[in-house]
Amino acid sequence: MTSLLKLNTVSRRFGSLQALTDISIDVAPGELRAVIGPNGAGKTTLFNLISGFFPPSSGEIVFDGQVISRVNPAELVNRGIIRTFQITEIFLSLSVYENLRIAAEVAMGVSHLPWAGRHLRARIDERVQELMDMVGIARKADRIAGELSHGDQRVVEIGIALSRHPKLLLLDEPTAGMGDEETQNMTALIRRLNKEQKITTLFVEHDMEIVFGIADRITVLDNGHMLAEGNAHEIANNPKVQAAYLGQAA
Ligand SMILES: Nc1ncnc2c1ncn2[C@@H]1O[C@H](COP(=O)(O)OP(=O)(O)O)[C@@H](O)[C@H]1O
Ligand SMILES: [Mg+2]
Repeated sequence: MTSLLKLNTVSRRFGSLQALTDISIDVAPGELRAVIGPNGAGKTTLFNLISGFFPPSSGEIVFDGQVISRVNPAELVNRGIIRTFQITEIFLSLSVYENLRIAAEVAMGVSHLPWAGRHLRARIDERVQELMDMVGIARKADRIAGELSHGDQRVVEIGIALSRHPKLLLLDEPTAGMGDEETQNMTALIRRLNKEQKITTLFVEHDMEIVFGIADRITVLDNGHMLAEGNAHEIANNPKVQAAYLGQAA
């Protein structure tokens, strides 16, 4: 198997704090991988390393056959590593359509072209429609983003991420702050994008039912260490995981 993403004994220190220790992970093309673990386990740090926000203190990250340990975030976006953040990153005063139009123009390299002709306008519009259909927000195209529910705002954000043609999508707690229905929608969307668009996805999620329900494989971090890795069945039956989570539940 050729992996799309490979981490070889990756560690990260912040001063005296060892946030991640010897993490080795292989993600196959097309995989939907969950990263779980208690608060402070190092999940966000892992995403920061993969997306180039800072380099590992030691170890190596390989993406698409190339070492990317010290490649900057903008270049990694060009290479297809796209993340969403905990904080919603959309223009609240603009409509859903306008948000996606700006994203599509940036991704197509045609932003700030006031002289854009009819042909280009049509291509941009087509792309925006496609993005709206992919995430299922087309019927809210004209709604002002700031007036959408939190769940719909996050859906728009996924649309913006898709405008960049991700090969690897990193979703850090995509269902944070959502109610049951929004959570279900977002979960279904993540699964659909993975299955239909074949987008390799890493996501952080706290709800174990969701994780077990959709992830192909699960990586469990605990206190900066890899506690376990496997499919839902293996993780659910792993004594170390059970101990960590039962210990936490109290
Ligand atoms: N930029 C940073 N500077 C210093 N410490 C950090 C930084 N980012 C994360 N940490 C520390 O690393 C540890 C792991 O944090 P984080 O990756 O955010 O965990 P998680 O996302 O699993 O909750 C925590 O102790 C956190 O305080
Ligand atoms: Mg986090």
